Amino acid sequence: MTAKAVGRAAALLRQGELVAFPTETVYGLGADAANPAAVAKIFVAKDRPADHPLIVHLPGDGHLDKWAREIPDVAFELAEAFWPGPLTLILKRGPNVWDVVTGGQDTVGLRVPGHPMALELLREFNGGIAAPSANRFGRISPTTAQHVHDELGDAVSMVLDGGPCRVGIESTILDLSGAQPTILRPGVIGREAIAQVLGAMPAQGAGATAPRVSGSLAAHYAPRTPVALMPGDGLLIALRNALAAGEKIAVLSCLGAPLEHERVVWRRAPTDSAGFAHDLYLNLRELDALGCARIIIQRPPQTAAWRAIMDRLERAAAGSG
Ligand code: TXA
Ligand code: MG
Repeated sequence: MTAKAVGRAAALLRQGELVAFPTETVYGLGADAANPAAVAKIFVAKDRPADHPLIVHLPGDGHLDKWAREIPDVAFELAEAFWPGPLTLILKRGPNVWDVVTGGQDTVGLRVPGHPMALELLREFNGGIAAPSANRFGRISPTTAQHVHDELGDAVSMVLDGGPCRVGIESTILDLSGAQPTILRPGVIGREAIAQVLGAMPAQGAGATAPRVSGSLAAHYAPRTPVALMPGDGLLIALRNALAAGEKIAVLSCLGAPLEHERVVWRRAPTDSAGFAHDLYLNLRELDALGCARIIIQRPPQTAAWRAIMDRLERAAAGSG
């Protein structure tokens, strides 16, 4: 069953169609990275600005030199340590990579995803699949096949269903094209783990001010409902104020509900960072659908394990002004 669906997906990709597929992080909206007309369809389906570069997904690190040039040794060491897995490497682009993939930049983002169905598709296709997260531009990334249908509807020829994504937030992006390895987007593979391979701490990118990483626009990953990020004690005060103002409020917190109220939807999140990340986009999506005046999220601990989650939460809140 799966093999048949994967075979059909690979055939559609060869015909220049879009196929959504599961990765371990989030679902991707894929096109044949060697076919510029196919890649252009991604931008239409997502309403995404054309200068935003895409990640090219590869079947293995043996394909790296087809897409990148002047590849530093550390790229292969990182590939050995973390691929297949949630790490994207930014390298100098190879001579045959289309502008529509890289947004006209001299670099290209590459990763080998750690999901069996994605790998099966990539091996069957035997080439690079350009794929952003399979959501409309600026919205929450999908972590189930149903989310992809909800986001993109008929804009995609086929959605491969590989179940809920294991990680739940997007890959770590590490730029190896400059003088110093630099993290452009935090993910579950943290600075410390990367430093173990590099032998030195990678630099931290400019984050919210870096123009070229769409995930680093301040208002990315935003639900339509305004999001407020609160420490535990502030949360209760904000909640009482909102209730006094007659509002219906959604709360996402690692703690149990301290009060019950017909206008409060209290969603309890996992207390461990991996569990929290796994459920995060599903939680935001479901809370967003309730028509509440506000989603109040309890601020997680300020530790390394929560860095990538904090990044996503701050962006969700930044969209709410
Ligand atoms: O986990 C992931 O990375 C998921 C799955 C589907 O692989 N993909 C994903 O793609 O999050 P997307 O397009 O939503 O985010 C990719 C990010 C964008 O912010 C883009 O700007 C950045 O990667 N990027 C891609 N190529 C780049 C490049 N050459 N230089 C700098 N940033 C780049
Ligand atoms: Mg995205």
